[in-house]
Amino acid sequence: MKDKTTVITIKQMKAEGKKIAALALYDFAMASLADRAGVDIVLVGDSLGMTFQGEENTLKVTMDHMAYHTRAVRKGTARALVVADMPFMSFRLGARQTLENAGRLVAEGAEAVKLEGVESLSDSIRELIAAGIPVMGHLGLTPQSVNTLGGFKVQGQGVEAERKLIDDARRLEDTGAFSMVLECVPMNLGAEIASKVQIPVIGIGAGPYCDGQVLVANDMLGLSEGHTPKFVKEYADIAKVAHDAFREYTKEVRGGEYPAEKHSYASPPRRLKAL
Ligand code: KIV
Repeated sequence: MKDKTTVITIKQMKAEGKKIAALALYDFAMASLADRAGVDIVLVGDSLGMTFQGEENTLKVTMDHMAYHTRAVRKGTARALVVADMPFMSFRLGARQTLENAGRLVAEGAEAVKLEGVESLSDSIRELIAAGIPVMGHLGLTPQSVNTLGGFKVQGQGVEAERKLIDDARRLEDTGAFSMVLECVPMNLGAEIASKVQIPVIGIGAGPYCDGQVLVANDMLGLSEGHTPKFVKEYADIAKVAHDAFREYTKEVRGGEYPAEKHSYASPPRRLKAL
């Protein structure tokens, strides 16, 4: 078995030119599967607001939700690095509350936290790191800013927007963040940012030239009900497998085929006689 992955391993991977594979997931079973498959980072993403809770965006996800899912994911993870998302507003109300919230996720098993943006957050990020909590940044399409961005749209288009993203990536690196997610930007910008910072840039919809990739496990398993973004590759159609199994089960229950005697418990003869 490979050694436990830490934030140091993740940084070394970039230095050694090794690509990082990350998945966003939310429960014990998925975490165990991903861990055994050799994924480097399991991210307890606040995308659970959409994929798990059926909301339109991530804004209703709370610290309680993240703590609950972080605990479950950590229990299923032996080797991968566990990173937990800080939900909407949980890192915007001052350094003390940011520390308290991040500390709670660490207590539930996170080995690092991820937070969206960098503007006006540099001090909070530095405080987290000083307190022993590694930080992963998140730039580009930051879903918690969906109302400011006017929807889930490709970011970093045009010279000004490109320059700002490159500056933000450098600023994030300066805070001491150990890596960053870069979401939904043109692939040449993904490549440019990955080449301009020393820390790993983990892309999602940011092209093949980033230092690693992250996908939402539900999306790549064909489990995202509804819209699948262009950047998602469906590696399996679990929705079809589950749908067919549920239909077959329903048919067999109605037809009296399930359960058969082999799925049932028999009473010991002694007990039956005594009745
Ligand atoms: O919440 C999430 O799942 C994420 C990934 C999409 C990177 O932030």
